[in-house]
Amino acid sequence: MTSNISFTSSQIVFLALLFCATYAYCRTTSLDESDVHGYHFHVYFYPGAPRSSQDAIGFRDAIQNQISSGHLADCIVKPVNMGPYGPHMVGNYETCCNKTSIPQALSFFMLNHGNLSVLVHPLT
Ligand SMILES: *[C@@H]1O[C@H](CO)[C@@H](O)[C@H](O)[C@H]1NC(C)=O
Ligand SMILES: *[C@@H]1O[C@H](CO)[C@@H](O)[C@H](O)[C@H]1NC(C)=O
Repeated sequence: MTSNISFTSSQIVFLALLFCATYAYCRTTSLDESDVHGYHFHVYFYPGAPRSSQDAIGFRDAIQNQISSGHLADCIVKPVNMGPYGPHMVGNYETCCNKTSIPQALSFFMLNHGNLSVLVHPLT
């Protein structure tokens, strides 16, 4: 059976450009993991919605318990902001983790965030 795949010259130019752009993007955005000093986990909630606020406060207690028990030994959880704070447009609080606690922290947040949105970003 013969292959029927063929490209017109404009398709070849397009694929070449796509490849170059992808390669350049990946090169410029690659990050040496040793540049990452830690991670922030931002939990968001809607202060006007009782269920959302209750979930958020309860989840913060659970995070604090994990820190106190040593499971998330190298994390700290900051106070709750009941409204917009800095770039964060809704109620929120931040947990800051050293990278030494990242495997445990990622698992804990993924398994327990329920209906709360969580933004994770590295500190470089
Ligand atoms: C992260 O933890 C390591 C080992 O416990 C420690 O040496 C380092 O100073 C900590 N880094 C930060 C940013 O807390
Ligand atoms: C998330 O919200 C849905 C719809 O309100 C609810 O049925 C569900 O129990 C909630 N899940 C958790 C983990 O709170």
